[in-house]
Amino acid sequence: MVNQEILPSKEAAFELLKKLKVPYQVRRHSLKVAEKALEIAYKINKTDVDLDLIEIGAILHDIGRAQTHGFKHAIIGGRILRERGYPSKLARICETHILGGLDKEDARFLNLPEKDYLPNSLEEKVICLADKLTAGTKEVTIEQRFQKWFSKYGKTKILMKSKRRIEKIQEELSSLM
Ligand SMILES: [Fe+2]
Repeated sequence: MVNQEILPSKEAAFELLKKLKVPYQVRRHSLKVAEKALEIAYKINKTDVDLDLIEIGAILHDIGRAQTHGFKHAIIGGRILRERGYPSKLARICETHILGGLDKEDARFLNLPEKDYLPNSLEEKVICLADKLTAGTKEVTIEQRFQKWFSKYGKTKILMKSKRRIEKIQEELSSLM
């Protein structure tokens, strides 16, 4: 059993992705998100932010993609980490990184267990944003990221809501820099 309070090292986290057969492209994406998330976090100077949690959380945020690439990968990722005894703050990062986070209504719409999956902690917010700013291994803007989704799915309510939410998160984080 892994100690519930202690974060795994960067190496151990990356090894876990490999062990669970998270695809190579996803692993590359995750490293890129970690880089982006740390870049954002370094600029935050008006409050404390847990850089280790951000780095390890970003590496593990897509671990659920070992099982599915659907929206459920967020919930599955959380479950994988909880079952293995990792800190619940890491599991929460997986569960809240989808789009701009999901509220109960969004969760119901996506056939996920009906509850909020909204990024609350600073670390959850930083990783959710860094993920939106990273398409594969490429840096993009929120605008570009959502335009791609809009052209694929249309300007759906859930995407519009998510875009506003992530823009608010970006503003909030900027105000802490
Ligand atoms: Fe993801």
